[in-house]
Amino acid sequence: MKRTLPILLSAALILAFAQAALSQADMTTLAPAAFGKLTRPAAQFKHDEHNEKAKIDDCAVCHHSGADGKQDKTVSSEGTPCADCHKLEKTGKGTDLTNAYHKQCIGCHQEKGKGPIACGQCHKR
Ligand code: HEC
Ligand code: HEC
Ligand code: HEC
Ligand code: HEC
Repeated sequence: MKRTLPILLSAALILAFAQAALSQADMTTLAPAAFGKLTRPAAQFKHDEHNEKAKIDDCAVCHHSGADGKQDKTVSSEGTPCADCHKLEKTGKGTDLTNAYHKQCIGCHQEKGKGPIACGQCHKR
């Protein structure tokens, strides 16, 4: 028992790191916990594959930072959920969570003339 515990602990640590390293590469859909139960099928988003195809190198294009109501696109916030800064409820101040996704995703697709803009193309059954 005394010897197996450290082995079990290190196995758990390795697993934890492997999971952290895999998470965005393995992402296929978006279903942030902040929404609770979704009313639409989770949006399609194969993180790494999407960004390669779309040729987006700068993480801060999506993972911007911000404080005091101002967006900062010079510093990346990768790893911080959008929901940490964009609240689910419309408060009248700032961009609510659903709009944050819609404006960012659909906004760029419209600008580039590429990528889905219809509901059912992202919220696929
Ligand atoms: C086209 C937009 C976009 C770009 C570009 C982008 N990401 Fe993301 N990334 C997302 C979204 C959306 C999420 C999910 C975050 C959320 O919903 O709160 C995410 C999640 C993540 C996560 C958390 C994974 C998890 O499972 O919790 C990490 C880490 C991450 N991105 C790293 C990066 C890095 C590093 C880059 C640049 C090489 C990058 N991202 C570029 C949109 C993007
Ligand atoms: C560290 C805090 C922070 C994080 C994390 C963050 N944002 Fe923001 N974002 C802001 C701030 C501050 C603003 C400016 C005030 C506002 O519109 O809410 C902003 C503005 C926006 C806007 C409006 C921009 C415009 O020109 O109208 C969109 C869209 C947006 N964020 C989407 C996202 C998405 C999607 C994510 C996750 C991938 C994300 N944000 C992560 C802080 C953050
Ligand atoms: C800065 C620009 C940009 C942002 C932000 C962006 N996309 Fe895209 N997206 C693209 C481009 C460009 C394509 C077309 C890529 C190609 O040539 O196939 C695309 C394609 C897609 C596709 C088609 C399948 C695929 O993976 O190629 C899906 C689904 C998609 N985007 C979902 C999203 C979602 C969901 C978000 C928000 C979390 C998002 N996109 C944010 C630029 C963007
Ligand atoms: C470019 C992709 C994209 C398009 C197009 C799009 N959405 Fe979304 N939508 C998202 C993302 C990303 C989220 C946040 C994560 C999620 O819900 O999967 C979201 C969230 C939502 C939510 C809140 C979460 C829920 O399921 O309750 C609703 C409601 C919604 N979208 C409805 C729509 C409707 C209606 C349309 C068409 C008018 C639409 N969306 C078009 C990507 C998209």
